[in-house]
Amino acid sequence: MLTKQENETMCRTGADTPMGQAMRRFWIPVLQVQDLPQPGGDPRPIEVMGERLVAWRDARGRPGLFSEYCLHRGAGMSLARAEPEGLRCVYHGWKFAVDGAVLETPNVADPKFKDRIRGRVYPVREAGGLLWAYLGPSDKEPAFPELPFMRLDDSHRINAGPVVNANYVQVIEGLVDSSHLTVLHASALAKANGSDLDFAAKTSHMQFDASPAIEADETDFGFHYVAMRSVGGKRMARVASFIAPCFVANPNGDLWFAVVPVNDERCNFFHVWWIADKPIGEEPLRSQQLQFVGLDQPTLERYGMTSETCDGPNVMTRANRFLQDRAQQRAGHFTGYASFTQEDAACSVSSGGIRDRSQEMLSAADVAIARLYRTLLACAKGVMAGQPMPAEHADVGRVIGVSAEIGAEDDWRQLVPHHRIVAGGAQRSAPIH
Ligand code: FES
Ligand SMILES: [Fe+2]
Repeated sequence: MLTKQENETMCRTGADTPMGQAMRRFWIPVLQVQDLPQPGGDPRPIEVMGERLVAWRDARGRPGLFSEYCLHRGAGMSLARAEPEGLRCVYHGWKFAVDGAVLETPNVADPKFKDRIRGRVYPVREAGGLLWAYLGPSDKEPAFPELPFMRLDDSHRINAGPVVNANYVQVIEGLVDSSHLTVLHASALAKANGSDLDFAAKTSHMQFDASPAIEADETDFGFHYVAMRSVGGKRMARVASFIAPCFVANPNGDLWFAVVPVNDERCNFFHVWWIADKPIGEEPLRSQQLQFVGLDQPTLERYGMTSETCDGPNVMTRANRFLQDRAQQRAGHFTGYASFTQEDAACSVSSGGIRDRSQEMLSAADVAIARLYRTLLACAKGVMAGQPMPAEHADVGRVIGVSAEIGAEDDWRQLVPHHRIVAGGAQRSAPIH
Protein backbone atom coordinates (compact mmCIF):
# COMPACT_ATOMS: atom_id res chain seq x y z
CA MET A 1 0.00 0.00 0.00
CA LEU A 2 1.22 3.49 -0.81
CA THR A 3 0.15 6.91 0.33
CA LYS A 4 -1.74 8.92 -2.23
CA GLN A 5 1.32 11.13 -2.62
CA GLU A 6 3.65 8.18 -3.22
CA ASN A 7 1.23 6.82 -5.78
CA GLU A 8 1.19 10.13 -7.61
CA THR A 9 4.99 10.30 -7.53
CA MET A 10 5.32 6.78 -8.93
CA CYS A 11 2.71 7.09 -11.67
CA ARG A 12 3.10 10.56 -13.14
CA THR A 13 5.80 10.96 -15.78
CA GLY A 14 5.35 14.43 -17.23
CA ALA A 15 8.57 16.36 -17.89
CA ASP A 16 8.35 18.31 -14.62
CA THR A 17 7.64 15.32 -12.34
CA PRO A 18 10.25 13.31 -10.38
CA MET A 19 9.39 10.01 -12.07
CA GLY A 20 9.24 11.70 -15.45
CA GLN A 21 12.70 13.11 -14.92
CA ALA A 22 13.96 9.72 -13.76
CA MET A 23 12.61 7.99 -16.86
CA ARG A 24 14.15 10.63 -19.06
CA ARG A 25 17.57 9.59 -17.79
CA PHE A 26 17.33 6.27 -19.67
CA TRP A 27 17.18 5.21 -23.28
CA ILE A 28 13.62 4.05 -23.87
CA PRO A 29 11.75 2.63 -26.88
CA VAL A 30 9.25 5.08 -28.32
CA LEU A 31 8.02 3.32 -31.46
CA GLN A 32 8.36 0.06 -33.28
CA VAL A 33 10.62 0.38 -36.31
CA GLN A 34 7.84 -1.13 -38.43
CA ASP A 35 5.71 1.91 -37.54
CA LEU A 36 8.30 4.50 -38.59
CA PRO A 37 7.56 6.29 -41.87
CA GLN A 38 9.33 5.13 -45.01
CA PRO A 39 12.37 7.24 -46.02
CA GLY A 40 11.12 10.69 -46.95
CA GLY A 41 7.56 9.72 -45.96
CA ASP A 42 5.03 11.69 -43.95
CA PRO A 43 6.07 12.61 -40.39
CA ARG A 44 4.30 10.55 -37.72
CA PRO A 45 2.98 12.25 -34.59
CA ILE A 46 3.56 10.28 -31.40
CA GLU A 47 3.33 10.98 -27.68
CA VAL A 48 5.78 9.86 -25.00
CA MET A 49 5.32 10.65 -21.31
CA GLY A 50 2.87 13.39 -22.23
CA GLU A 51 5.28 15.02 -24.70
CA ARG A 52 4.14 15.48 -28.26
CA LEU A 53 6.79 14.36 -30.71
CA VAL A 54 7.16 13.65 -34.40
CA ALA A 55 8.99 10.59 -35.74
CA TRP A 56 10.37 10.67 -39.24
CA ARG A 57 12.98 9.29 -41.63
CA ASP A 58 14.78 11.48 -44.10
CA ALA A 59 15.31 10.38 -47.70
CA ARG A 60 18.63 8.75 -46.70
CA GLY A 61 16.75 6.61 -44.18
CA ARG A 62 18.11 8.35 -41.08
CA PRO A 63 15.50 8.29 -38.27
CA GLY A 64 14.69 11.43 -36.34
CA LEU A 65 12.56 12.47 -33.40
CA PHE A 66 11.42 16.09 -33.30
CA SER A 67 9.50 18.06 -30.74
CA GLU A 68 6.01 18.61 -32.11
CA TYR A 69 6.43 22.34 -31.61
CA CYS A 70 8.58 24.17 -34.15
CA LEU A 71 11.60 25.91 -32.69
CA HIS A 72 10.51 29.23 -34.21
CA ARG A 73 6.99 29.87 -32.94
CA GLY A 74 5.64 26.45 -32.15
CA ALA A 75 3.59 25.40 -35.16
CA GLY A 76 3.04 21.64 -35.34
CA MET A 77 5.89 19.80 -37.02
CA SER A 78 3.43 17.01 -37.80
CA LEU A 79 2.18 19.42 -40.49
CA ALA A 80 5.69 19.91 -41.87
CA ARG A 81 6.62 19.26 -45.47
CA ALA A 82 8.74 16.16 -45.84
CA GLU A 83 11.68 17.23 -48.00
CA PRO A 84 14.53 14.84 -48.78
CA GLU A 85 17.01 16.26 -46.27
CA GLY A 86 14.72 17.66 -43.59
CA LEU A 87 11.30 18.67 -42.32
CA ARG A 88 10.16 22.14 -43.35
CA CYS A 89 7.70 23.89 -41.04
CA VAL A 90 4.77 25.10 -43.12
CA TYR A 91 4.33 28.33 -41.10
CA HIS A 92 7.50 30.27 -42.04
CA GLY A 93 9.52 27.57 -43.75
CA TRP A 94 12.26 26.87 -41.24
CA LYS A 95 13.78 23.54 -42.16
CA PHE A 96 15.35 21.04 -39.76
CA ALA A 97 17.50 17.96 -40.32
CA VAL A 98 17.05 14.84 -38.17
CA ASP A 99 20.26 15.67 -36.28
CA GLY A 100 18.94 19.11 -35.29
CA ALA A 101 20.84 21.13 -37.88
CA VAL A 102 18.80 24.12 -39.05
CA LEU A 103 19.06 24.03 -42.83
CA GLU A 104 17.06 27.10 -43.80
CA THR A 105 15.25 30.06 -42.19
CA PRO A 106 13.76 31.80 -45.24
CA ASN A 107 12.10 34.65 -43.32
CA VAL A 108 15.42 35.74 -41.75
CA ALA A 109 17.73 37.80 -43.97
CA ASP A 110 20.93 36.94 -42.06
CA PRO A 111 22.27 33.74 -43.70
CA LYS A 112 24.38 32.93 -40.62
CA PHE A 113 21.41 32.99 -38.22
CA LYS A 114 20.59 29.33 -38.85
CA ASP A 115 24.12 28.29 -37.90
CA ARG A 116 23.71 29.71 -34.40
CA ILE A 117 20.61 27.69 -33.47
CA ARG A 118 19.66 23.99 -33.21
CA GLY A 119 16.35 22.29 -33.89
CA ARG A 120 14.47 20.55 -31.08
CA VAL A 121 15.38 16.93 -31.75
CA TYR A 122 16.25 14.00 -29.52
CA PRO A 123 18.96 11.36 -30.00
CA VAL A 124 17.57 8.13 -31.42
CA ARG A 125 18.81 4.64 -32.27
CA GLU A 126 17.23 1.72 -34.07
CA ALA A 127 17.82 -1.61 -32.35
CA GLY A 128 15.88 -4.83 -31.84
CA GLY A 129 13.01 -3.68 -34.04
CA LEU A 130 12.49 -0.60 -31.86
CA LEU A 131 13.19 3.09 -32.20
CA TRP A 132 14.89 4.15 -28.97
CA ALA A 133 15.19 7.72 -27.78
CA TYR A 134 16.93 9.60 -25.03
CA LEU A 135 14.73 12.46 -23.82
CA GLY A 136 16.86 13.69 -20.92
CA PRO A 137 19.58 16.31 -20.40
CA SER A 138 22.39 15.87 -22.90
CA ASP A 139 25.14 15.92 -20.27
CA LYS A 140 23.52 12.93 -18.53
CA GLU A 141 23.06 10.66 -21.55
CA PRO A 142 23.85 7.07 -20.52
CA ALA A 143 25.46 4.34 -22.58
CA PHE A 144 23.07 2.70 -25.00
CA PRO A 145 21.87 -0.65 -23.58
CA GLU A 146 22.99 -3.78 -25.39
CA LEU A 147 20.32 -6.44 -25.10
CA PRO A 148 20.53 -10.02 -26.39
CA PHE A 149 17.84 -9.67 -29.05
CA MET A 150 19.57 -6.67 -30.60
CA ARG A 151 22.23 -8.88 -32.16
CA LEU A 152 19.75 -11.03 -34.08
CA ASP A 153 18.39 -10.71 -37.56
CA ASP A 154 14.78 -9.52 -37.88
CA SER A 155 13.70 -13.01 -38.91
CA HIS A 156 14.58 -14.32 -35.42
CA ARG A 157 12.49 -11.79 -33.57
CA ILE A 158 8.83 -10.84 -33.14
CA ASN A 159 7.92 -7.29 -32.15
CA ALA A 160 4.49 -6.30 -30.96
CA GLY A 161 3.30 -3.17 -29.21
CA PRO A 162 -0.29 -2.93 -28.05
CA VAL A 163 -1.62 0.28 -26.55
CA VAL A 164 -3.19 -0.03 -23.09
CA ASN A 165 -5.44 2.73 -21.78
CA ALA A 166 -4.07 2.68 -18.24
CA ASN A 167 -1.11 4.03 -16.32
CA TYR A 168 2.17 2.26 -17.13
CA VAL A 169 2.62 0.90 -13.59
CA GLN A 170 -0.60 -1.10 -13.89
CA VAL A 171 0.83 -2.93 -16.87
CA ILE A 172 4.21 -3.56 -15.26
CA GLU A 173 2.44 -4.97 -12.20
CA GLY A 174 1.01 -7.71 -14.39
CA LEU A 175 4.52 -8.65 -15.48
CA VAL A 176 5.83 -9.18 -11.94
CA ASP A 177 2.78 -10.98 -10.60
CA SER A 178 3.17 -14.69 -11.25
CA SER A 179 0.14 -15.84 -9.28
CA HIS A 180 -2.37 -14.16 -11.59
CA LEU A 181 -1.30 -16.38 -14.47
CA THR A 182 -2.83 -19.48 -12.96
CA VAL A 183 -6.15 -17.71 -12.33
CA LEU A 184 -6.76 -14.94 -14.85
CA HIS A 185 -5.21 -16.86 -17.73
CA ALA A 186 -6.60 -20.28 -16.82
CA SER A 187 -8.48 -20.68 -20.09
CA ALA A 188 -5.73 -19.10 -22.20
CA LEU A 189 -3.18 -21.44 -20.63
CA ALA A 190 -5.41 -24.44 -21.23
CA LYS A 191 -5.10 -23.71 -24.94
CA ALA A 192 -1.37 -24.36 -24.52
CA ASN A 193 -2.03 -28.03 -23.89
CA GLY A 194 -1.01 -29.90 -27.00
CA SER A 195 0.26 -26.76 -28.73
CA ASP A 196 3.72 -27.02 -30.24
CA LEU A 197 4.45 -23.30 -29.89
CA ASP A 198 7.57 -22.68 -27.80
CA PHE A 199 5.71 -20.11 -25.76
CA ALA A 200 2.90 -22.56 -24.96
CA ALA A 201 5.34 -25.23 -23.83
CA LYS A 202 7.07 -22.80 -21.50
CA THR A 203 3.92 -21.56 -19.82
CA SER A 204 1.64 -24.59 -19.61
CA HIS A 205 2.84 -25.68 -16.14
CA MET A 206 1.48 -22.46 -14.69
CA GLN A 207 -1.98 -23.95 -14.90
CA PHE A 208 -1.06 -25.66 -11.67
CA ASP A 209 -0.43 -24.29 -8.18
CA ALA A 210 -2.19 -20.94 -7.87
CA SER A 211 -0.23 -19.94 -4.77
CA PRO A 212 3.44 -20.07 -5.74
CA ALA A 213 6.02 -19.09 -3.12
CA ILE A 214 7.35 -15.63 -4.03
CA GLU A 215 10.72 -14.21 -3.03
CA ALA A 216 12.42 -11.06 -4.31
CA ASP A 217 15.89 -9.53 -4.12
CA GLU A 218 16.91 -5.96 -4.70
CA THR A 219 19.56 -5.86 -7.42
CA ASP A 220 21.74 -3.21 -9.01
CA PHE A 221 19.36 -3.08 -11.98
CA GLY A 222 16.11 -3.05 -9.99
CA PHE A 223 14.99 -6.41 -8.65
CA HIS A 224 14.45 -10.01 -9.59
CA TYR A 225 11.92 -12.34 -8.06
CA VAL A 226 11.05 -15.99 -8.13
CA ALA A 227 7.74 -17.83 -8.20
CA MET A 228 8.20 -21.42 -7.07
CA ARG A 229 5.51 -23.94 -7.87
CA SER A 230 5.03 -27.58 -7.04
CA VAL A 231 4.01 -29.31 -10.24
CA GLY A 232 3.68 -33.09 -10.30
CA GLY A 233 6.26 -33.52 -7.54
CA LYS A 234 8.71 -31.17 -9.25
CA ARG A 235 9.84 -27.81 -7.87
CA MET A 236 9.56 -25.31 -10.69
CA ALA A 237 11.18 -21.88 -10.35
CA ARG A 238 10.35 -18.94 -12.57
CA VAL A 239 12.57 -15.88 -12.16
CA ALA A 240 11.56 -12.56 -13.70
CA SER A 241 13.73 -9.45 -13.65
CA PHE A 242 12.55 -5.86 -13.47
CA ILE A 243 15.07 -3.44 -14.91
CA ALA A 244 14.40 0.14 -13.92
CA PRO A 245 12.67 2.20 -15.00
CA CYS A 246 10.24 0.19 -17.16
CA PHE A 247 11.68 -3.08 -18.51
CA VAL A 248 10.97 -6.72 -17.66
CA ALA A 249 12.81 -9.89 -18.68
CA ASN A 250 10.19 -12.65 -18.63
CA PRO A 251 11.04 -16.03 -17.05
CA ASN A 252 10.58 -17.71 -20.42
CA GLY A 253 14.06 -16.38 -21.23
CA ASP A 254 13.16 -15.30 -24.76
CA LEU A 255 10.63 -12.58 -24.04
CA TRP A 256 11.32 -9.00 -23.01
CA PHE A 257 9.02 -6.07 -22.36
CA ALA A 258 9.17 -2.31 -22.16
CA VAL A 259 6.19 -0.41 -20.80
CA VAL A 260 6.51 3.21 -21.87
CA PRO A 261 4.01 5.88 -20.86
CA VAL A 262 2.25 7.63 -23.71
CA ASN A 263 0.75 9.85 -21.04
CA ASP A 264 -0.26 9.21 -17.44
CA GLU A 265 -3.30 7.12 -18.41
CA ARG A 266 -2.06 5.29 -21.49
CA CYS A 267 1.05 3.30 -22.34
CA ASN A 268 2.79 1.42 -25.10
CA PHE A 269 3.39 -2.18 -24.08
CA PHE A 270 6.33 -3.25 -26.25
CA HIS A 271 6.96 -7.00 -26.54
CA VAL A 272 10.03 -8.64 -28.05
CA TRP A 273 10.34 -12.40 -28.51
CA TRP A 274 13.50 -13.87 -29.93
CA ILE A 275 14.99 -17.28 -30.65
CA ALA A 276 18.55 -17.41 -31.97
CA ASP A 277 18.17 -20.71 -33.82
CA LYS A 278 14.61 -20.43 -35.10
CA PRO A 279 13.12 -17.89 -37.55
CA ILE A 280 10.13 -17.01 -35.41
CA GLY A 281 9.83 -13.66 -37.15
CA GLU A 282 8.76 -15.43 -40.34
CA GLU A 283 5.38 -16.87 -41.26
CA PRO A 284 3.60 -18.93 -40.17
CA LEU A 285 5.41 -18.87 -36.78
CA ARG A 286 5.00 -15.15 -36.34
CA SER A 287 1.24 -15.09 -36.80
CA GLN A 288 0.74 -18.26 -34.76
CA GLN A 289 2.55 -16.69 -31.82
CA LEU A 290 0.73 -13.37 -32.05
CA GLN A 291 -2.68 -15.03 -32.34
CA PHE A 292 -1.98 -17.31 -29.40
CA VAL A 293 -1.45 -14.38 -27.05
CA GLY A 294 -4.03 -12.04 -28.61
CA LEU A 295 -1.55 -9.68 -30.26
CA ASP A 296 -2.61 -10.19 -33.88
CA GLN A 297 -3.84 -7.04 -35.58
CA PRO A 298 -7.56 -7.97 -35.92
CA THR A 299 -7.82 -8.87 -32.22
CA LEU A 300 -6.00 -5.72 -31.10
CA GLU A 301 -8.28 -3.59 -33.27
CA ARG A 302 -11.37 -5.34 -31.92
CA TYR A 303 -10.39 -4.12 -28.44
CA GLY A 304 -9.09 -0.69 -29.46
CA MET A 305 -5.50 -1.58 -28.58
CA THR A 306 -3.63 -0.04 -31.52
CA SER A 307 -2.46 3.56 -31.90
CA GLU A 308 -5.12 4.01 -34.62
CA THR A 309 -7.98 2.57 -32.55
CA CYS A 310 -7.15 3.49 -28.93
CA ASP A 311 -9.34 6.61 -29.08
CA GLY A 312 -12.07 4.91 -31.10
CA PRO A 313 -15.39 3.32 -30.19
CA ASN A 314 -13.97 -0.15 -29.49
CA VAL A 315 -11.91 0.60 -26.39
CA MET A 316 -12.67 -1.09 -23.07
CA THR A 317 -14.71 1.22 -20.86
CA ARG A 318 -16.94 0.77 -17.86
CA ALA A 319 -19.90 1.82 -20.01
CA ASN A 320 -19.38 -1.11 -22.37
CA ARG A 321 -18.45 -3.42 -19.50
CA PHE A 322 -14.88 -3.54 -20.72
CA LEU A 323 -15.97 -5.57 -23.77
CA GLN A 324 -16.22 -8.72 -21.71
CA ASP A 325 -18.07 -11.58 -23.39
CA ARG A 326 -20.37 -12.84 -20.62
CA ALA A 327 -21.93 -15.48 -22.86
CA GLN A 328 -18.49 -16.97 -23.51
CA GLN A 329 -17.79 -16.87 -19.81
CA ARG A 330 -21.06 -18.63 -18.94
CA ALA A 331 -20.16 -21.24 -21.52
CA GLY A 332 -17.07 -22.11 -19.49
CA HIS A 333 -14.31 -19.67 -20.44
CA PHE A 334 -12.82 -18.23 -17.26
CA THR A 335 -12.89 -14.55 -18.27
CA GLY A 336 -14.70 -14.04 -21.56
CA TYR A 337 -11.73 -12.38 -23.28
CA ALA A 338 -9.86 -13.29 -26.45
CA SER A 339 -6.51 -14.18 -24.87
CA PHE A 340 -3.73 -13.22 -22.44
CA THR A 341 -3.31 -9.68 -23.80
CA GLN A 342 -6.97 -8.73 -23.43
CA GLU A 343 -7.28 -10.38 -20.01
CA ASP A 344 -4.32 -8.40 -18.70
CA ALA A 345 -5.55 -5.19 -20.31
CA ALA A 346 -9.05 -5.62 -18.86
CA CYS A 347 -7.61 -5.90 -15.35
CA SER A 348 -5.33 -2.89 -15.88
CA VAL A 349 -8.00 -0.68 -17.47
CA SER A 350 -10.79 -1.63 -15.06
CA SER A 351 -8.65 -0.38 -12.13
CA GLY A 352 -9.06 3.17 -13.46
CA GLY A 353 -6.65 5.38 -15.38
CA ILE A 354 -4.34 5.63 -12.37
CA ARG A 355 -5.03 2.95 -9.79
CA ASP A 356 -5.42 4.16 -6.20
CA ARG A 357 -2.79 2.22 -4.25
CA SER A 358 -3.81 3.76 -0.95
CA GLN A 359 -6.76 1.36 -1.21
CA GLU A 360 -5.33 -2.13 -1.59
CA MET A 361 -4.50 -5.15 0.53
CA LEU A 362 -1.17 -6.60 -0.45
CA SER A 363 -0.43 -10.18 0.58
CA ALA A 364 2.38 -12.71 0.51
CA ALA A 365 1.54 -13.17 -3.19
CA ASP A 366 2.50 -9.54 -3.80
CA VAL A 367 6.10 -9.46 -2.62
CA ALA A 368 7.28 -8.48 -6.09
CA ILE A 369 4.58 -5.82 -6.43
CA ALA A 370 5.76 -4.13 -3.23
CA ARG A 371 9.33 -4.39 -4.50
CA LEU A 372 8.27 -2.75 -7.77
CA TYR A 373 6.82 0.22 -5.88
CA ARG A 374 10.03 0.59 -3.87
CA THR A 375 12.22 0.42 -6.96
CA LEU A 376 10.22 2.99 -8.89
CA LEU A 377 10.06 5.34 -5.93
CA ALA A 378 13.83 4.92 -5.49
CA CYS A 379 14.23 6.17 -9.06
CA ALA A 380 12.09 9.22 -8.36
CA LYS A 381 13.82 9.95 -5.07
CA GLY A 382 17.27 9.37 -6.56
CA VAL A 383 16.77 11.88 -9.31
CA MET A 384 15.26 14.44 -6.92
CA ALA A 385 18.22 14.09 -4.56
CA GLY A 386 20.77 14.17 -7.37
CA GLN A 387 21.83 10.64 -6.47
CA PRO A 388 22.20 7.50 -8.62
CA MET A 389 19.05 5.57 -9.42
CA PRO A 390 18.55 1.82 -9.75
CA ALA A 391 19.92 0.60 -13.09
CA GLU A 392 21.53 3.91 -13.91
CA HIS A 393 24.94 2.30 -14.26
CA ALA A 394 24.03 -1.40 -14.33
CA ASP A 395 25.15 -3.78 -17.06
CA VAL A 396 21.61 -4.59 -18.14
CA GLY A 397 22.72 -6.73 -21.07
CA ARG A 398 23.45 -9.57 -18.64
CA VAL A 399 20.08 -9.46 -16.91
CA ILE A 400 17.90 -12.45 -17.69
CA GLY A 401 14.63 -14.11 -16.89
CA VAL A 402 14.75 -17.86 -16.48
CA SER A 403 12.52 -20.84 -15.73
CA ALA A 404 13.77 -24.24 -14.57
CA GLU A 405 13.20 -27.19 -12.30
CA ILE A 406 15.34 -27.00 -9.16
CA GLY A 407 16.10 -29.49 -6.41
CA ALA A 408 14.37 -29.42 -3.05
CA GLU A 409 17.41 -27.91 -1.32
CA ASP A 410 18.63 -25.69 -4.15
CA ASP A 411 18.74 -21.91 -3.95
CA TRP A 412 16.89 -20.47 -6.93
CA ARG A 413 19.53 -17.71 -7.18
CA GLN A 414 21.79 -20.24 -8.86
CA LEU A 415 19.65 -19.63 -11.93
CA VAL A 416 20.76 -15.98 -12.16
CA PRO A 417 24.46 -16.14 -11.26
CA HIS A 418 25.33 -12.88 -13.02
CA HIS A 419 22.81 -10.74 -11.20
CA ARG A 420 24.28 -8.40 -8.64
CA ILE A 421 22.19 -8.52 -5.50
CA VAL A 422 21.99 -5.53 -3.19
CA ALA A 423 21.09 -6.54 0.36
CA GLY A 424 20.69 -4.09 3.21
CA GLY A 425 23.05 -1.62 1.65
CA ALA A 426 25.80 -4.22 1.24
CA GLN A 427 26.29 -5.77 -2.15
CA ARG A 428 26.75 -9.47 -2.65
CA SER A 429 28.35 -10.73 -5.78
CA ALA A 430 26.95 -13.82 -7.36
CA PRO A 431 27.18 -16.75 -7.83
CA ILE A 432 25.36 -17.52 -4.66
CA HIS A 433 24.98 -21.05 -3.29
S1 FES B 1 6.62 28.42 -36.52
FE1 FES B 1 7.79 27.08 -37.70
S2 FES B 1 8.84 28.35 -39.09
FE2 FES B 1 7.71 29.70 -37.88
FE1 LIG C 1 -1.08 -11.67 -17.47
